[in-house]
Amino acid sequence: MTGELMVKAEGVHKSYGAAHILRGIDLEVRSGEVFCLVGPSGSGKSTFLRCINHLERIDGGRLSVDGQLVGYRQKGDKLYELKDSEVAAQRRDIGMVFQRFNLFPHMTALANVMEAPIQVKGESKAVARERAERLLDRVGLSDRMGNYPSQLSGGQQQRVAIARALAMEPKLMLFDEPTSALDPELVGDVLDVMRDLAESGMTMIVVTHEMGFAREVGDSLVFMDGGVVVESGHPRDVLTNPQHDRTKAFLSKVL
Ligand SMILES: Nc1ncnc2c1ncn2[C@@H]1O[C@H](COP(=O)(O)OP(=O)(O)O)[C@@H](O)[C@H]1O
Ligand SMILES: [Mg+2]
Repeated sequence: MTGELMVKAEGVHKSYGAAHILRGIDLEVRSGEVFCLVGPSGSGKSTFLRCINHLERIDGGRLSVDGQLVGYRQKGDKLYELKDSEVAAQRRDIGMVFQRFNLFPHMTALANVMEAPIQVKGESKAVARERAERLLDRVGLSDRMGNYPSQLSGGQQQRVAIARALAMEPKLMLFDEPTSALDPELVGDVLDVMRDLAESGMTMIVVTHEMGFAREVGDSLVFMDGGVVVESGHPRDVLTNPQHDRTKAFLSKVL
C-alpha cells in the first residue's frame, strides 16, 4: 500500500529568534501513507507542517517533498534558495487543512472550492465548477454548495475546506488538528471524509488527538515532544505498547 518516498526529513531544525523549536526531526513518509503526528501542545507539530508547506524556512538539516528539496535547489554540493515563483509552484502540490477552516467568508462553498484552480492555475470557470461540484458531493455537501460559511456548521465548513484543498489536485495533504475546533458530534463526518480520502490512496500527514482514527486509518504514527521524534512505529504498536515514558505519559492523557 505504500510506495515511493513522499517526504523525507533529515535533522530538520527551526528556531524562532532564540526559541529552538524543531531540534533535529528525522522521518520518512511514503506515497499513499497515512502518517499520524501526535504530541503535546508546543512540541512543534504545526511548525513542522508549516516547514513542509514552505510557510517557514528551515534553519538546518534537509527536507524534501517528492524528491525535491523544500525551498532550495541543489547544484553539486551547494544549495541555492528558490525564487518566490518556484516556491509557489512547489506549494501548489501540497494541500493544507487547518484547525480553523479559514474559508473565504464572502464566498459560497462552491466559490471557495473553485477559487484556487481559477486564480492559481488559470483554469476556466466551467472546469473549476465541475470539479468543485464533484468534490463537494464527495464530502457529502451536494445540497450546501450555495451556502456561505456562516450558514454552515463547523463540520460542514471543514469538509468544504478539505474539498477546497483537493481542488488543486495535491500529491500530499497536511491536516493540522482538523477536528479539534469541532463540537464532538461533528467530528465523525470529517473523519469519515478523511478515511475515504485515505482509502483513495492520498498521502496524508495528520496531526491529531483522535487516537481511534490513528489506530484504524494510520499506517504510521510518530510521537513528538520538545521538537524531536521520541518514538515511531505502527499506530497499534505505539498506542498499545509505548516504549518511552514521555509517550506513556502523553497517551495516558489522551486515550
Ligand atoms: N511564528 C512564531 N513565532 C514565535 N514562536 C512561535 C511561532 N510559531 C510557533 N511558535 C512557538 O513554537 C512552539 C511550537 O509551536 P507549534 O509548532 O505550534 O506546536 P504544536 O503545534 O505542537 O502545538 C511553541 O512554543 C510556539 O509558541
Ligand atoms: Mg499545532
